[in-house]
Amino acid sequence: MVRRPTVDPAAQARVAALIAGMPLRRDLLIEHLHALQDQVGGLRPADLAALAQIHRIPTAEVFEVASFYHHFTLLKDDAPTPIATIRVCDSVTCMLAGAEQRLAELTASAPPGVRVEAASCLGRCHQAPVVWDSRAVAALPLPNLTAYREAGGFAEHDPDSVIATLKAASLRGLGGAGFPTARKWAFVRDQPGPRLMTLNADEGEPGTFKDWHVLATAPYQVLDGAVIAARTVGAERIYLYLRDEYPDIRLVLSHAIAELEAAGIGPPIELRRGAGAYICGEESAMIESIEGKRGLPRQRPPLIAEAGLFGRPTLNHNVETLYWVPAILQRGAAWFADQGKPGHPGPRLYSVSGRVAHPGVIQAPAGSTAAELIARAGGMAPGHQLAAFLPGGASGGVLPAAHADRPLDFGVLEDLGAFVGSHALVVLSDQDRVRATARNLLQFFERESCGQCTPCRSGTAMLATMLADGPLDPALVADLDQVMRDASICGLGQAAPNPVRSLLRFFGEEGR
Ligand SMILES: Cc1cc2nc3c(=O)[nH]c(=O)nc-3n(C[C@H](O)[C@H](O)[C@H](O)COP(=O)(O)O)c2cc1C
Ligand code: SF4
Repeated sequence: MVRRPTVDPAAQARVAALIAGMPLRRDLLIEHLHALQDQVGGLRPADLAALAQIHRIPTAEVFEVASFYHHFTLLKDDAPTPIATIRVCDSVTCMLAGAEQRLAELTASAPPGVRVEAASCLGRCHQAPVVWDSRAVAALPLPNLTAYREAGGFAEHDPDSVIATLKAASLRGLGGAGFPTARKWAFVRDQPGPRLMTLNADEGEPGTFKDWHVLATAPYQVLDGAVIAARTVGAERIYLYLRDEYPDIRLVLSHAIAELEAAGIGPPIELRRGAGAYICGEESAMIESIEGKRGLPRQRPPLIAEAGLFGRPTLNHNVETLYWVPAILQRGAAWFADQGKPGHPGPRLYSVSGRVAHPGVIQAPAGSTAAELIARAGGMAPGHQLAAFLPGGASGGVLPAAHADRPLDFGVLEDLGAFVGSHALVVLSDQDRVRATARNLLQFFERESCGQCTPCRSGTAMLATMLADGPLDPALVADLDQVMRDASICGLGQAAPNPVRSLLRFFGEEGR
């Protein structure tokens, strides 16, 4: 007979009190874990077992969820409670800015009880090297709903004309894939109801910080876009998945959503908190996470547009995509489309970081080149010469300076083995080594792989080790590249070999 572990009644009473007032639904497991950790400072076995008992699910299921996410701190029963956590970003832009040294300094000087840990991109690449301290969450200005409505926000729109206008504007999804927005809306609207919507604010691609910028400066415009989208496709609820690295934005959105609810502007919006996992930006992994599970990407078919969140047809969009929607409907499709370079309709928000004088989010015509964006960022940082650049964050490959006049848009860099993805331009100079950059990128993918596909799990680790240790065997790299592309479930594993391919193709094995 299998014996169930006994649960300490005191732990069960304590955990029940800590999550009191929160609905007891399985999909809220991650919210419950956050509530425990926020109040207790970490997650202890007795508390996890008690939470499992309260949910009436196996303890192992709670452990597997808690241990999947980087931001949950699993403590032994008798371990002291950490006072605070300091995260030092070690992703590509911060690596260029000296993250390794910063991490060593902070680790050496941390007082007892303060945990210092390396972290994947914290989404503030213009301030590299970025350090996040749990004791110091900045307060952003709260948005004003009345002012936004007086300027024409949250207007009613006819669903057919919305789709026609977005089609005429050629708005594409700006989370990385560039799928035509109007086509996605029409497809979801045609699925049998009830339908749902998700808003992807996970923004984990190294070098990308445009969504933070938009949510900090124009949160109602993003929520307006989401409300328009939900009404157009007939989605009855919006789930907003926000990465845990943005607690300042969480305060802004909590306020904005409460104001919308009070004003009766719907459908309802549920704010969900990520827990530190890049893979949860992949839409099907995000959906698993919203359901309270590990963020394991799903096999396709079905598309999430057919069977997504809770098995329902789901419209999912990136923050920036929705940000443009109200502006297009107010100012017209031509206003939007005409802002791009010929053949590249629309404006774009490029995140520009690395060796430029003034890193930041730059609104520029779609199809802008790296050279133009570097000029807009004040030119190269003093003493640096352009040597190479990443056109699309960690995933989009590495290109030599010779290609700085190529337009940065969807579908135009693929012949170079690169892509623009989330439009994160990371600039490298003559003082940077492309091989060290590729190694950093592969270490990122290794850390962030969800691990369910062997080619991705083992391939990212092997490539990272090869880049760290020794000679690159081009035949072995090509073999790994092929199997990762062919046999990975999601885009992480498929794109992870890109930096190594770029290195061998453009820079030679040693990569300058
Ligand atoms: C590994 C991986 C990470 C991703 N991360 C994000 C992300 O952080 N934010 C985002 O909007 N899309 C991300 N995406 C793309 C989403 O899967 C999806 O295509 C996007 O949210 C759709 O919205 P859009 O049509 O507005 O672009 C990621 C994809 C992959 C494969
Ligand atoms: S490709 Fe990698 S990240 Fe994507 S599902 Fe497979 S193991 Fe997970």
